[in-house]
Amino acid sequence: MKSLVKPLLALALILLAAPTAAAPAGGEASPRVAEIIASRCALCHGPEGESASAIYPRLAAQHPGYLKKQLKDFRDGQRKSDTMSDMVKDLKDEDIAALATFFASKKAGGRQSGDVDLAGVGKFIFHRGNTFSGVSACASCHGPKGFGTEHLPRLAGQHPAYIETQLKEFNKRERTNDNSIMHSIASKLTELETKAVAVYIGGLQ
Ligand code: HEC
Ligand code: HEC
Repeated sequence: MKSLVKPLLALALILLAAPTAAAPAGGEASPRVAEIIASRCALCHGPEGESASAIYPRLAAQHPGYLKKQLKDFRDGQRKSDTMSDMVKDLKDEDIAALATFFASKKAGGRQSGDVDLAGVGKFIFHRGNTFSGVSACASCHGPKGFGTEHLPRLAGQHPAYIETQLKEFNKRERTNDNSIMHSIASKLTELETKAVAVYIGGLQ
């Protein structure tokens, strides 16, 4: 009987200690991660993942699993980016996980959908694709509202300029990680369809 008390006591202590040892809940960053965000990421992606410029992707409300994978791919050289590889090259897996959790927990604000006629063309492509040229409907993978899934990016509310650049990079295979599905889709989009679908996506929320 006595031999059980010690391990049980130890277990109870571990369980009690667990909440404080784990990463802060609710998207609060630890001091180290808060420092990384303030000194590096905020400049382009904003302190809460709401990037100021349309060329920098919005990170707020993106899926944590997707963010984590992209950050690791930037660090390990799978997704080539002159800008991002420098930003993450010295980050540990724990930092990356904490950054992903932080930005994913932030809310994405609303956005104007821009040119209504163009967005109309984009809406068609997004939901129906283009059966004449073989473009699949974006909604079939990214969801009817563009919310994505854990490993498939959320598109809703993303800056149209960023979406457009990524589609062009997928087409030219300049986006170097996991590009096969998106390459085959982007290579069939016309310039008009690319711009239109990007504008429509920007207005989704
Ligand atoms: C100087 C501007 C700049 C800074 C600073 C910066 N980024 Fe980026 N980030 C970019 C650009 C530009 C891209 C788009 C990829 C590309 O074109 O190279 C990007 C892409 C990303 C992506 C991929 C998003 C997606 O939808 O695929 C993530 C995640 C990201 N950044 C996180 C971070 C984090 C975390 C930090 C801080 C450690 C950071 N960035 C610092 C400019 C910046
Ligand atoms: C068959 C499934 C599928 C379809 C259909 C699809 N996508 Fe994707 N898309 C993906 C996957 C998977 C990724 C993630 C690639 C990665 O991890 O690098 C992705 C990534 C993206 C990204 C990069 C997002 C970011 O934050 O950097 C954009 C932009 C995108 N898709 C736009 C579209 C558009 C627009 C359409 C419709 C014309 C479309 N996708 C249709 C599967 C799909």
